[in-house]
Amino acid sequence: MSKQTLGFNRALGDMAEALNSDITASEKLHLLVRATARALGVRGCSLMLLDAQRMRLFHTASHGLSERYLKKGFLEVERSLTEVLGERVVAILDVATDPRIQFQELAQQERITSILSVPVKIKGEVVGILCVYSRTRREFTAAEEQFLTTVANLAAVVLESGRLNEVEMRPREAKDEPSSHPTPLTSQLKPATFAHPSEEDFARLLDFYQIEWIYEPRSFALQWEGKATEMFTPDFYLPALDLYVEMTTLKPGLTREKNRKVRRLRELYPEVNIKLLARRDYDRLLAKYGHGPLAGAKTHGVGRVLLSAPQVQKRVRQLAKEISHDYEGRHPVLVGVLRGVFCFMADLMRYLTVPTDVDFMAISYYGGESGKAVRVTTDVGINLEGRHILLVEDIVDTGMTLSFVLSHLKARNPASLQVCTLLDKRVRRLADVHLNYVGFEVPDEFLVGYGLDYQEEYRNLPFVALMQEEKPESQVKDAKKHLR
Ligand code: PRP
Repeated sequence: MSKQTLGFNRALGDMAEALNSDITASEKLHLLVRATARALGVRGCSLMLLDAQRMRLFHTASHGLSERYLKKGFLEVERSLTEVLGERVVAILDVATDPRIQFQELAQQERITSILSVPVKIKGEVVGILCVYSRTRREFTAAEEQFLTTVANLAAVVLESGRLNEVEMRPREAKDEPSSHPTPLTSQLKPATFAHPSEEDFARLLDFYQIEWIYEPRSFALQWEGKATEMFTPDFYLPALDLYVEMTTLKPGLTREKNRKVRRLRELYPEVNIKLLARRDYDRLLAKYGHGPLAGAKTHGVGRVLLSAPQVQKRVRQLAKEISHDYEGRHPVLVGVLRGVFCFMADLMRYLTVPTDVDFMAISYYGGESGKAVRVTTDVGINLEGRHILLVEDIVDTGMTLSFVLSHLKARNPASLQVCTLLDKRVRRLADVHLNYVGFEVPDEFLVGYGLDYQEEYRNLPFVALMQEEKPESQVKDAKKHLR
């Protein structure tokens, strides 16, 4: 048996033992990449996983690569190693000349010359890639490719068991529900148990806001004597914020020690962004999002965030850009239908770059002889004749309100009349109305937040959320329209 084959056998033996041990999924993956790099005698090894949209790859467990290289940004799948994701082994002989490499200069600075990548598949589906990086120009052999593929399979086993554990951790009622927003694979890489319940709370909060997280993502050496004698493993890594979070919520006595470690980590790894979350900070953070002891009951009854505050703001900015472009030189009048529209209107106006007037109208619903009817209770004060009106709505549902409001405004002889709505619940449409600008198409669910209410509550939430199941949509909507 050759020396290399012996090395592979030994490495695979160590890996199998680690997989069968009591360490966390994250630790198992780190062990796999380290043992792989050693067995192949390469500079480094990294397991990169796809995000939920399968658009980007990011380093999940790495060995031998500098922080600078790991933090170089996500790899866009389109531009990088698509062949591996097409289930093929990819060998790059020289990064300096290969067009598939996204960060060529950085790879050269890292002294990487050749790369070998294999797909990581769970039950036939590619979920990421496993790469090894060689300093010298190297043509990898078939045996080396085979070894790397075996390690990729072992990594898949770890990932899959992380995913199973994650399902087990969910509250019972959520287990059977297929979610329209699948948990990103990174967040599925969770340990069987968190070291402390506050960590689990924090993870749930991040899930609630659809912020990707990895538990105990990597260990940093803080002291060496030949080998590392002190390690520090932050509790969480939030890839979207490129932020490590260490929590001190439950063992306040250890805060000083944690402070020391965080200080040391910052000294040794100045490029690493880490935040120590103390009990007070944590409660404030929870409160900001309507949870925890400082929050009161702001989000009581809210089921799930459908559109996070940043998502909403981003889309409102895009709409404002489009509208500013289309209305250049026309000085439009924005007309809002109270009350739900006030949040959207306020943000939209502030993002517009063209001068605008703004006014509102209020309507009420009543039971007329031929069923439900609507009337204007407060009309627009501005003279609309010859003006360019942009009617702004928070949501268009059946379209009945909009249809009525549009014919009311048309009677005022405007030069033009267009509609902008943040949310479009198209699936419930009864009246045929044309929408010129739409923020998001939304499902047939009862929504609250960002101006939308349930019995006048929740309008002040910065996001759009679904109510919990026990408040059925029909009950709520009908209650609203009949009671006014
Ligand atoms: C919402 C929204 C629209 C209307 C759309 O108002 O602001 O005006 O419903 O529904 P439709 O398409 O089925 O007619 P709501 O009645 O909730 O009053 P509010 O804005 O005061 O909350």
